[in-house]
Amino acid sequence: MEKDIFKEEDLKGLKIPEHVAVIMDGNGRWAEAKGEPRTYGHTVGSEVVEHMVEVASDLGIKYFTVYAFSTENWKRSEGEVSVLFSLFSVYLKKLIEKGRKNNVRCKIIGDKTALDDELNKVIDELEESTKDNTGLTFIIAINYGGRDEITRALRTIAGEVAKGNTDLSDITEDLVSEHLDTGGIPDPDLLIRTGGEQRISNFLLWQCAYSEFYYCDTCWPDFDRNELIKAVVKYNKRDRRFGGVK
Ligand code: IPE
Ligand code: IPE
Ligand code: MG
Repeated sequence: MEKDIFKEEDLKGLKIPEHVAVIMDGNGRWAEAKGEPRTYGHTVGSEVVEHMVEVASDLGIKYFTVYAFSTENWKRSEGEVSVLFSLFSVYLKKLIEKGRKNNVRCKIIGDKTALDDELNKVIDELEESTKDNTGLTFIIAINYGGRDEITRALRTIAGEVAKGNTDLSDITEDLVSEHLDTGGIPDPDLLIRTGGEQRISNFLLWQCAYSEFYYCDTCWPDFDRNELIKAVVKYNKRDRRFGGVK
């Protein structure tokens, strides 16, 4: 386990963001640098997710979202995609018991229609069995794309308009937000991307309108409590103006 560089007293007075979202990047490069296959990075990365859910919960974060598989990640080799989905299946099954024990409410976002029936069954069971938990809400984005999510929401809203159930004037920002996969979840306050790249890669495009972005070179398999606190400390120094003047 990591050596804590932050002590309990360092955390006193620190404003904890309500919603932290993470683009977990750098698994493949991390593994390759060790002479291992890329998929080894995903295996270790999934263990890091497991640990970070506990850390996020301990820190008092209310919503923790991770980007696990994008709508563009299907472009990868069949072998890599298949290892990723095996990991999701194993991890989500484990989470059913862990979520229950740790009072974590779990939710999957993304287009689930492309996932196989077995994985959909696990997802339904996970969401159903943790839905009344009152601790951390843990959101996992699988086959998720911001543009795809907005497109699906538009389709639903347009369908309601066509049926005469919704008037054009009823289409507000709030209505659009409610129709996204994240309906009911507050927008991320802090968006972290590991692995050195500084781009959004189709993640939470609508929801990140006013999120604070934090980039670090650490690859996801090396991410830990200290790295998360470092990001939160940086977040505390940001002046969020939301377009206003202070
Ligand atoms: C992030 O790590 C995990 C997924 C996108 C599934 P990568 O697999 O993108 O690792 P790099 O960026 O190639 O190192
Ligand atoms: C973003 O990482 C997607 C996930 C972390 C799941 P990518 O590695 O797919 O993004 P790009 O290709 O570098 O933009
Ligand atoms: Mg990557």
